[in-house]
Amino acid sequence: MEKIVSLCKRRGFIFQSSEIYGGLNGFWDYGPLGAELKRNIKECWWRSMTQLRDDVVGLDASIIMHPKIWEASGHTSTFSDLMVDCLLTKKRFRADQVEPQSGTAYFYTGVTDGTGAKESKDAFSVLIATGKHAEYARKVARQFYQQRGIENPALLGERTEEVKDSTRYNPENGGLLTEPRPFNLMLKTYVGPVESEDNKSYLRPETAQAIFVQFKNVLDVSRQRVPFGVCQIGKAFRNEINPRNFTFRSREFEQMELEFFIRPDEVIQKMTGAVALLSDPQPSTLNPQPTWGWELWHKYWVEQRIKWYESIGLGRDTLVEYWQKKDDLAHYAKATVDILFKFPFGTQELEGIAARGNFDLMQHQKFSGKSMEYFDEEAKAKYVPHVIEPSAGVDRLALALICNAYCEDQAPDEKGKLESRVVMKFHPRIAPIKVAVFPLLKNKPALVEKAKAVRDLLRPHMSVFYDEAGAIGRRYRRQDEAGTPFGVTVDFDTLGEKGPELRDTVTLRDRDTMKQERVKIGELVSMLLERIR
Ligand code: GAP
Repeated sequence: MEKIVSLCKRRGFIFQSSEIYGGLNGFWDYGPLGAELKRNIKECWWRSMTQLRDDVVGLDASIIMHPKIWEASGHTSTFSDLMVDCLLTKKRFRADQVEPQSGTAYFYTGVTDGTGAKESKDAFSVLIATGKHAEYARKVARQFYQQRGIENPALLGERTEEVKDSTRYNPENGGLLTEPRPFNLMLKTYVGPVESEDNKSYLRPETAQAIFVQFKNVLDVSRQRVPFGVCQIGKAFRNEINPRNFTFRSREFEQMELEFFIRPDEVIQKMTGAVALLSDPQPSTLNPQPTWGWELWHKYWVEQRIKWYESIGLGRDTLVEYWQKKDDLAHYAKATVDILFKFPFGTQELEGIAARGNFDLMQHQKFSGKSMEYFDEEAKAKYVPHVIEPSAGVDRLALALICNAYCEDQAPDEKGKLESRVVMKFHPRIAPIKVAVFPLLKNKPALVEKAKAVRDLLRPHMSVFYDEAGAIGRRYRRQDEAGTPFGVTVDFDTLGEKGPELRDTVTLRDRDTMKQERVKIGELVSMLLERIR
């Protein structure tokens, strides 16, 4: 990860937000290459979700919405993590992320200040490694009481106990942590000039709810019929207690979510006389069928999503499909499959695909008083549709693609001597820059002029980078690190200096194999488009 984080900064994929002011924990900025990478991810997702399908339409909703939405969705009351604070440093941890500690715990019942004028009856304890000198525990305990205004604390009631795998102590200093208590992850703000309870609002913690609350409007205008979906890409905010693993858990991030509305199983049963189930012998989940109940729609979307990840270069062997156990499931979910990626820091979630029943639409019907019922002309039935929700994070995926692309290998330098190179092997579909164009030498006007003409020829069709600075090998290396899949070099052959048959041809270099082929300039656009689509 260290190498990846440093490359991200060096090459302008990802910067710390507000860096010149010391950064802001949990917030990140995308530099020139990162911004292109993210755009490509979002465009690929949008294209595959809506433009290549008849049954999904898009939405672009506001980030701040009516606060009642978050009451209806359950976020106000339940969207929280248990957190604990260090009583000494006030550092906050997610309760489930405190490393279990073993050792000797030193307990104190309080202190006096020696003169008897001041005392504290606050109990405190410190965990230290077994065998470590007791004075260490006493020093930490004294600091705790000093912070409570007792200048020269004399510790009272010291006793010890052997402790195994306890999560009650701060792993960094051994000090006692507070009892776990819930911490709501939604970021609050006030809408309008008055900072009152009535004007309190939230930055959305997920994009999904906007889709549910606009369900009826989208239905009215899009002429879609259930089963159909609405998808959205946009920012979401969570006041994560412990943002970590680079951009993996951030406080501001982007989601790509689809809510795919389906008929309830009872309606399908009535319409077709049977509901196809996962437990049926060899159920096909390739082409949607009228007999599909929620189970098969759910499986269908899991497979569609995995295929999409493969199409942008995350091989099946880098992904894990995790079917959540009953105890893992969110309160609204009938089933959830997490698609995990093997990050260098562990195998972690990229996307969750949940079968949410009709929980959300029912909640909004209840809280808004507006009907969310749908009349299904084919089924001759009125119902509140159920939903399958594939929900992915753009930033996590960008990080996965960066980790997946990072390679170190050997390449010959100018003199043919092998040197190590860093190469980002992005799939051409999501690579930030598709092609780099180089004149062999910068001080030959004819080469420069021709190379610029090639750049202008390619530019309307794809992202192009023109580079004339430095030795050609160094220029290749720079593009290898940026993950540019193709390099076009204009040389003296292009100008026809070795004979007419090579005139108006260029070399096309492949980033991964480093092989070069001679290509006619007139064929470049179509050849490259075929390789990057
Ligand atoms: N509407 C369902 C929902 O929001 P989620 O599992 O909480 O479900 C979906 O989030 C996806 O959003 C995750 O799989 C992840 O990719 C991304 N995500 C969630 N929290 C994130 C965070 N703090 N930082 C970056 N990405 C996050």
